[in-house]
Amino acid sequence: MQQSALQPPAHLAIIMDGNGRWAEQRDQPRAAGHRAGARIMRDVVSHCAQRGVQQLTLYAFSSDNWKRPAPEVHALLALFTTHFRTHATELARSGIRLTVIGRRDRLPLLLRAAIREAERRTEAGRTMHLRVAIDYSSRAAIAHTQGDGDTAAEHTPLLPAVDLLLRTGGERRLSDFLLWECAYAELHFIDTLWPDMTVTHLDDAFADFARRDRRFGCLPDRASA
Ligand code: FPP
Repeated sequence: MQQSALQPPAHLAIIMDGNGRWAEQRDQPRAAGHRAGARIMRDVVSHCAQRGVQQLTLYAFSSDNWKRPAPEVHALLALFTTHFRTHATELARSGIRLTVIGRRDRLPLLLRAAIREAERRTEAGRTMHLRVAIDYSSRAAIAHTQGDGDTAAEHTPLLPAVDLLLRTGGERRLSDFLLWECAYAELHFIDTLWPDMTVTHLDDAFADFARRDRRFGCLPDRASA
């Protein structure tokens, strides 16, 4: 099925990769790259809502990211806490509902409280559903549905199908993100590092998505006549 040029993906998922390299290129600590990434994230969220994306799922911290050096992990968790505290009102005003997916039991109490409060303040949002994945593992989410998980995974549900998966930063892999949900996702990889991402990149990805011939296992349109 050829997509309409005006139709954005209903469910967009993004792997926001390249913050560390962006900072290193500027001789700055990696945390500076994450702060720059958070600023771009705000623009991307609001642009997606304006374009009519219904669900936006962002990969902020994988369960494997705990293996990074402690200072970087702490900087990221503190950044998430500040971000949720600071931006919940703005999200609510824009009709954006925020939920966080992933394990919560390993997160600092302050971050857990900030998440709960931001979710509560935005729960009436109907313009777009923004999900941020923190301490998230898709394999753990799938295992949980098989009764193989524990209560630690209660915030790791399987999500509606992803229509477009975008990854910045030049790598071409899924890195344990939404493996089940991406069964028929269109994949779009760009070399741009996340903090250099612009709304033009996003519109280019939507235009590329609109040109994709999505068949979901059926025959091409021309063969069905
Ligand atoms: C991957 O880049 C990015 C992350 C592990 C963190 C993503 C976080 C943000 C974009 C910050 C904003 C998020 C919220 C929820 C406020 P990398 O560090 O692996 O980059 P590299 O591949 O260049 O090393």
